[in-house]
Amino acid sequence: MSLSLFPYILAAIALLLMYRWSFSKKLTGLPLPPGPQSLPFLGNVGDIDIARPWRTYSEWKKKYGPIVSCRLIGQTVVIINSEIIARQLLDQRSAIYSDRPAGPVPKLFGIDFITAFLPYGDTLRLHRRLFHQALRPDAADSYRDLYLDKARQLLSNLLDSPKAFEKHLFLYTASIIMSVTYGHDKVCWDAPPIKSVAELVELINVGLPPERSAILTAFPILTRLPAWFPGASFQRIAQRTRRLALESMDEPFEYVKRNMVTGNAPKSLVSDLLTELDEGKEAFPEQAVKHIALTVFVAGFDTSSSTLSSFILAMVLHPEAQRLAQHEIDAIVGVDRLPDFYDRPSLKYVEAVFRETIRWHVVAPLGLPHATSSDDVFGGYFIPKGSLILPNICRLFRDMSREGHDDPDAFKPERHFAGDGTLLPDTIAAKPMWGFGRRGCPGRFIAEAALWSAVVHLLAAFRMTKAKDEAGKEIEVKEEFTTGVVCRPIPFQCSFVLRSTDREKAIRLSD
Ligand code: HEM
Repeated sequence: MSLSLFPYILAAIALLLMYRWSFSKKLTGLPLPPGPQSLPFLGNVGDIDIARPWRTYSEWKKKYGPIVSCRLIGQTVVIINSEIIARQLLDQRSAIYSDRPAGPVPKLFGIDFITAFLPYGDTLRLHRRLFHQALRPDAADSYRDLYLDKARQLLSNLLDSPKAFEKHLFLYTASIIMSVTYGHDKVCWDAPPIKSVAELVELINVGLPPERSAILTAFPILTRLPAWFPGASFQRIAQRTRRLALESMDEPFEYVKRNMVTGNAPKSLVSDLLTELDEGKEAFPEQAVKHIALTVFVAGFDTSSSTLSSFILAMVLHPEAQRLAQHEIDAIVGVDRLPDFYDRPSLKYVEAVFRETIRWHVVAPLGLPHATSSDDVFGGYFIPKGSLILPNICRLFRDMSREGHDDPDAFKPERHFAGDGTLLPDTIAAKPMWGFGRRGCPGRFIAEAALWSAVVHLLAAFRMTKAKDEAGKEIEVKEEFTTGVVCRPIPFQCSFVLRSTDREKAIRLSD
């Protein structure tokens, strides 16, 4: 295609999109949900803080109410700023709200087979059924010894090299995922598949926020630009992700298959599903197992380790909450052993700290976008087919600030207790952080248990404090987070001070 035609093609697409928009309005006569005025072609692109769009969306809640619509280059976007409305639409009308935005980006990046990017249909249903089999609550509970072993390994790694704590958090999550998915017991930071998955996840995270992919979706023709073309750096990212996706998928999968041939494959999601295929109990393409296995990695790796990094940041910034949680652990668990899952019901303040960590800075502030698969009408507003639906999850959490604790930005574990001092009954598994409806996170039970295990072990073993510089002065730590689909604290320094030599013995014993 000659590049001189480019502006004309863009203009033609814009006209087409504007025509489609006005046509859809005429269909029902009902207005779209309220929202800011949009410019004819770009829509509201200029109004949105592209790095942290959830901030703009929260501002819009104050102006336009809990359901807001805007336009992103021809695309209708509906932002939901109320958990009740999110549940009414995404849970209760899930037959309409369970699609993902269509567009060329996942294919361009070579990751269109990953469950999170699949459109609603047969392949998605198959993936979700297989996930349910492998990750449902009782299956997640069967891995408790694994979470405990890996948490103790995490403590041991921190004793050996505390400065590399971010890397140890990644390894903790990666080693649980590798064990559950492929039965790989030992994982190494600098070798595939961890190295390639880590890079793949990072590239997807920065390259795929919906506000950015909207541009490529509106102008799919841009995906044909060569990588050297000014502004087409996404092509270089896409080349890299295509390679990384294949590498990360093939190597561990073939490892399981080789071990199955020699009868040495430990129990894992992949070996269980391949056995069912071999025995004729299931009939689906082998490829599906490969795809869901990589999905577990991509979906679980960064989200879980970022949550743990937020927890450590919260403890460094809020030493009093940390002290109270540790006091409770010492009283209930004692100092000569490490905590176990049977301690969990008694560790109520630890539970409140855990809930507050998750509420304080939600790891995926907008979750993943849903899309409507047909027109809908809600509260007198028209929501056209193909709209992008964004639940503003971090806003929903901030609104959960309780009576008497109305400072939603503060870290206050106390807000999770009722006036009489009892822990409120809501559980983490029911929270909006896992998304909604038929697309809700299938890994939530494993993720939640693995996170709790790490949190309680870190509290038991270490006082997490600000690090000191060479002059003995505390190095300041800020409450600052990266941007993207998944957000984690900006790298910070901290010290892990061992709380008791008895606990060190317990950690070393479990090595
Ligand atoms: C802190 C950890 C995690 C958080 C906060 C999280 C959150 C989310 C969210 C918000 C979504 C989108 C839901 C929606 O569209 O409504 C999602 C999807 C998904 N998550 Fe998680 N997740 C976590 C860990 C995991 C783990 C450990 C696994 C796998 C074991 C996993 C597997 C998935 C999959 C497969 C999807 C795509 C579901 C679909 O599109 O149908 N996640 N997750």
